[in-house]
This record gives sequence, C-alpha cells and structure tokens, in this order.
Amino acid sequence: MELINRPRRLRGNDSIRRLCRETRMSPDSLIYPIFVDEELKGRRPIPSLEGQYHYGLDCVTDAVAECLEHGVGRCILFGLPAHKDACGSSAWDEHGVVQEAIRAIKAKYPDFYVITDVCMCEYTDHGHCGILHGHEVDNDQTLEVLAKTALSHAQAGADMVAPSDMMDGRVAAIRAALDGAGYQNVPILSYSAKYASAFYGPFRAAAGSAPSFGDRKGYQMDPHNRREALKECALDVEEGADILMVKPAMPYLDVLRECADAFELPMCAYQVSGEYAMIKAAGAAGLIDEHRVMCESAVSIYRAGANMLITYFAKELADAMKEGE
Ligand code: PBG
Ligand code: ZN
Repeated sequence: MELINRPRRLRGNDSIRRLCRETRMSPDSLIYPIFVDEELKGRRPIPSLEGQYHYGLDCVTDAVAECLEHGVGRCILFGLPAHKDACGSSAWDEHGVVQEAIRAIKAKYPDFYVITDVCMCEYTDHGHCGILHGHEVDNDQTLEVLAKTALSHAQAGADMVAPSDMMDGRVAAIRAALDGAGYQNVPILSYSAKYASAFYGPFRAAAGSAPSFGDRKGYQMDPHNRREALKECALDVEEGADILMVKPAMPYLDVLRECADAFELPMCAYQVSGEYAMIKAAGAAGLIDEHRVMCESAVSIYRAGANMLITYFAKELADAMKEGE
C-alpha cells in the first residue's frame, strides 16, 4: 500500500503521542470550590456531593492544606451563613462566614489564591439570587447589595471576586465599588454565560440555596440560546470583567468554544455539581471508569477553549495532570 498520509505514525507510542498533544493542562489552571459553614465545627461530608465536605471556620485551612498537597493553589469560596433574611444581609457582613474564612486562610496561607463567589442566594431566606420585588428579583436594587458584598470580600483580603447572580450591569457596579475603595487591582471573574441549568441540583442541596418558590429562569440564561452567550460576554467585557466564564461546562462546550474564539479575555469553565455527581455515581455503579472519565471530561473542556477550570475534581485532576493523563 502506498498510503501518503498515515496519521497513525503520530500515535505509535506514548512518547510521540505526548509530543504531538494539542491540549496541555496544568494544575495551575485548577480552582477548587470550598464550602464554609458558619455553624459547623470541624468538617462534615456533603451528602449530595460524594467526596466533598462542608468546613467549619475552625478548619477551613485544612481544606487549603489538602489543596496544596496536590499542587492546587486556588480556591473559590462558598458560604453557608448562620443567619438568612429577605435581603441577604449576612452576605456583606464584615464578620460574615466568607469574610472570616478569607481571613483565616490568608493568616495561614497568604499566597494561596482566594476567589469568592458573589451571590445572594445562600444568604436570602427565599433562596433567590437578589432582592425580591413581589415575586421578581429586582435587578437594580440587587446591584447595590452585590457591590457591597464584593467590596466586603476584597476588604477581608479576597484576591478575586466572582459574581454568579446574572443581574444586568453587575460587573460595572462591582468594578465601581471596588475602584471607589482603592481595590483597582482586584480582578472580576464574571459568570458571564450562566445557564438556568438542572445540573446545579447537588450544589443547591449542599449550599442550602435552592429557591423557595419559582426558578432562576428570570435571570439565568435559557439553555436553548447560543448567541445570547456572546452578548452576555460582550457586555461583561464592556463593563470591565477580567475573566469570562461559561457554566455548566460539558453540556455547553459549543458555547465555550465560541466565546473563547470571540473574546480576548481568559476563559474559565465551571464543571458544576451535577456533572461531578453524575461521574461519581456512574463510577460507583461500575458503569464507567471514574478516573478516566474525569480526565477525559477535563480534556474536553480545555480543548473547547477553557484556560482554567473550576471543578470538584481539582485535587485528583492535579495529580492526573502531573502524570500526563
Ligand atoms: C450561586 C451559584 C450556584 C452555583 C455557583 N454559584 C448555584 C445556582 O446558581 O443555583 C452552581 C455550582 C454548581 O452547581 O456546582 N448562584
Ligand atoms: Zn445565586
């Protein structure tokens, strides 16, 4: 046979395959979600997220130590406050759960990079991501509390803030609040294209943040929409976002690729709780090889254009990446 093209030449052994690899991943690009519960002492397994824990303020630095053992140097913090009310006032409390967690982490690990999720749903008694006006979330009133919350995180020492609420104009509002208080150098990682997804179920159980009525379709995006993601990203760029995010990850790889191609900013993807839970459950049931599916899912997300990844698998993935898996 006189075949001219033999693509298999580049697949002959592990060495040549690794040489020709198009997608290269590093633990530096991983961000691990940490849940901190104000009322908890010690740590407690999260039933909806096999292998994940709630941490008390007394041991949140243990979560960081575990990250560092695996070479993961960045986290995103989620808070479970002791007190909830209609406007989510614990969210911007100087001594709130996230603010205290930041201080605890920074006191022991000043170089560990702390990103904070900025949203109201964990702090409101109705579980919506903002201030209600009747049964609707009032956009502009919510901007004020989001800005206050983001600023309080920066004042407590957060390295970066990540608004996940999907209000219009929140990046601009947060940027103005940060700049006005001298935090010009705190970047904003915007959950730009965040879909109204059923894949957040295990997170909401873990964070106690499910809405008590209705759903989030009035602010999060319709999964049927692709061009709207480009619009959301473009608005965030205009408003001064530093990093864009697509969320969830694997069901939205097409959106991730388009946004990565269309914008110059670094792209983050969030492999959300439902994606994680499915892989864990199918692995535990013996239906798939959990480790290999974890690796392949991450590869697919980076191949689609992610420069960084928020994932509950961050520690295991960091090990896998070091092995070149
Ligand atoms: C808060 C928030 C959510 C997630 C991240 N930030 C839940 C939601 O929007 O309902 C989801 C993360 C996950 O599912 O892992 N708004
Ligand atoms: Zn929310």
